[in-house]
Amino acid sequence: MKSVHNTELDESVIDWPVHMQRALDIACNVIAANPNPRVGCVITNNNTVVAEGWHIAAGHPHAEAMALGSAQAAVAGGTAFVSLEPCNHLGRTGPCSEALIEAGISTVVIAMNDPNPRVAGQGVRRLEEAGIEVFQLKDFELPAQRINPGFITRHQTGRPFVRMKLAMSMDGRTALSNGESKWITGAAARADVQKLRAASSAIVTGSGTVLADDPRLNVRVEEMDLSEAQLISNEESLKIQPLKVILDSNLRTPETARILQSGKTIIFTASADSTSQFATANDVEVRNCSNDADPNASGVELHSVLESLAAEFECNDVLLEAGPTLCGSFLKADLVDELVLYVAPKLLGSDAKALLNLTGIESMDDALDFSITELCQIGEDIKVVLRPQKV
Ligand SMILES: NC(=O)c1ccc[n+]([C@@H]2O[C@H](COP(=O)([O-])OP(=O)(O)OC[C@H]3O[C@@H](n4cnc5c(N)ncnc54)[C@H](OP(=O)(O)O)[C@@H]3O)[C@@H](O)[C@H]2O)c1
Repeated sequence: MKSVHNTELDESVIDWPVHMQRALDIACNVIAANPNPRVGCVITNNNTVVAEGWHIAAGHPHAEAMALGSAQAAVAGGTAFVSLEPCNHLGRTGPCSEALIEAGISTVVIAMNDPNPRVAGQGVRRLEEAGIEVFQLKDFELPAQRINPGFITRHQTGRPFVRMKLAMSMDGRTALSNGESKWITGAAARADVQKLRAASSAIVTGSGTVLADDPRLNVRVEEMDLSEAQLISNEESLKIQPLKVILDSNLRTPETARILQSGKTIIFTASADSTSQFATANDVEVRNCSNDADPNASGVELHSVLESLAAEFECNDVLLEAGPTLCGSFLKADLVDELVLYVAPKLLGSDAKALLNLTGIESMDDALDFSITELCQIGEDIKVVLRPQKV
């Protein structure tokens, strides 16, 4: 495979970046394809776009197969632009490398290699063995990686990508001293949170939030403010509710909690107690995840929870929607990959509750540093997306 930068492309293939950008844009239209990655494909022949495809959801054709199946003109001899290396294994659907070979595609241009060890490099190798020329457009590697942070993190580290969502006032408060917190932010911010949920494999919360707010933590499509085109592209994936996960050391979650009423919920506990409390509840699974290595540590063991979510439930992206205690624990354990902060133009004052239980920061050197990756106004609120600065 030849890796090339846009500036190195000769005159005859000067339009390659345009087609690859389109492949990435198509992939981005898909909100989630869990546990698979979001992928887009554009096929050109004789300098004309003849097909486009994207991966709708697990069990549905991959982007390359969808494009080949919907081509408006001959694809033999054409060029396929794919945002991710074509797969070469038999999963829920057939290998894309074979489909491209059978269709007579002569050139494949990819943005990034597949991080999945079952694919990694093998898709490219199979295409080249069949005489197809394969190129990687280097300048699209990072943008393509940003489309699938969870898929990449799961395959590279064995845990999901953890996105922590918090809503706060301008003075960093989340609730009044009496616990009242509804609603700090406005409807537009809450609709945006619905999209974050829909993009996630699992929503993780703590028993404190379940007891205080009794949230449903489900995806409500009618609150998401999607365009007609987005609704069509995501019709299949939006039928699937993300897994709901409660970290509840002492099984304090009541059987009547609203979070247990729709879709599957996993409760990770440190309690040796049985599952009796939830014996009659539908779709609730209780798992022991105590901190065996440190019996003095409180709460369930976060690394094991995340490893279990990746290995057993194929979770790519998880959304942490919890209170100051659990969010503080995730930050202390260095398990937050992205922080999505909604800031309401309100001041709640110093009697109100703080954003995080995060103690022990005694010097500026101990402060947790972040870089801002996105900043925008959303309705009346501000949305800030941050990534931890790794030292
Ligand atoms: N502003 C926001 O965006 C936002 C979002 C969600 C919630 N909230 C607010 O947060 C408040 C609740 O806060 P909270 O701090 O009590 O609840 P929380 O952080 O959601 O849950 C904390 C509980 O999780 C359990 N837990 C299990 N394993 C843990 C671990 N390793 N580390 C830490 N905790 C672990 C602990 O209870 P056990 O010991 O019983 O297991 C702990 O008390 C509510 O008022 C809610 O409105 C705000």
